[in-house]
Amino acid sequence: MEEAILNALRNRPGEFVSGEELSRLIGVSRTAVWKEIEKLRAEGYKILAQPHSGYQLVGVPDRLTAQELTWNLKTQRIGRKVHAYESTDSTMDVAHRLAAAGEPEGTVVVAEQQEKGRGRMGRRWFSPKGKGIYCSVILRPSMQPAQVPLVTLMAAVAAAQAVEAATELKPEIKWPNDLLIGSKKVAGILTELSAELNRVNYVVLGIGMNVNTPRRDLPAHATSLAEELGKKVDRLQVARSLLEQMDRLYGVFLQGGIAPVLEAWRRYAGFLGRRIRVALEGRVVDGQALDVDASGALLVRTDSGLVESCSAGEVLVVR
Ligand code: BTN
Repeated sequence: MEEAILNALRNRPGEFVSGEELSRLIGVSRTAVWKEIEKLRAEGYKILAQPHSGYQLVGVPDRLTAQELTWNLKTQRIGRKVHAYESTDSTMDVAHRLAAAGEPEGTVVVAEQQEKGRGRMGRRWFSPKGKGIYCSVILRPSMQPAQVPLVTLMAAVAAAQAVEAATELKPEIKWPNDLLIGSKKVAGILTELSAELNRVNYVVLGIGMNVNTPRRDLPAHATSLAEELGKKVDRLQVARSLLEQMDRLYGVFLQGGIAPVLEAWRRYAGFLGRRIRVALEGRVVDGQALDVDASGALLVRTDSGLVESCSAGEVLVVR
């Protein structure tokens, strides 16, 4: 009933809806409507009430709830189903459990806070309550495990586009999938998969974004959207945009292959053409960043003139 009232109010933005109309629409008494309105207010919804006009929704809580994320979401696959938690160890673990139990492609797990958020290469992902976007998406692409890095690049582009759509910031992508503003990290992507030798069972795509995280809660090399803009950012808007952009790009990828996704990726990859240092397993490579290839590997022209294809690692320095 709560959702029905909320949707009735949402469908009439900027208008008052009378208690009588709500009670008729939903088929409950006006007292029951009033009680639900009180419940919604207790959850943080701002609802005006005027004696002869009714109720008007003027604000939603700063929380990533399933209801707020999915309402009127324009996606085909991603976010059709959302599991939202106040707190969890890691949304990755929850998503793995759900995926193993058969949850459909596109299911999203989101948490306000993670106790054990993890990043790439065994690092931690600090996930303070209510400040960032911490989510994992279950995908079931029919592809070889070796192609999965492309899904990660796709997610990095989606994250960059979501930031651009919701703010006036210009994010950059650092290979393979860090999102930077200035030269500081604002979001990261962690891709984990369950696969057999030649077949992917499922992919869990984890995205962490520092949205309203204050500087004091961030490592020195990191930033947040709010720190860059100097004002609070609507987390819900960024998160919804992220799901929409990801859905669109994933659709493009499934239909048209990786070329259009790589084209978009290159537009954000400001380090291409520059001198870089890449850390690979057990060694570093210095040279000029040339491009990414169709498998998502970074091509670097080393000082000896050879072109190295780097498929797993991290760009350390951009000069
Ligand atoms: C990185 O840049 O190292 C990747 C960071 C990924 C963090 C996200 S937050 C949501 C999801 N749950 C996790 O534990 N990690 C990912």
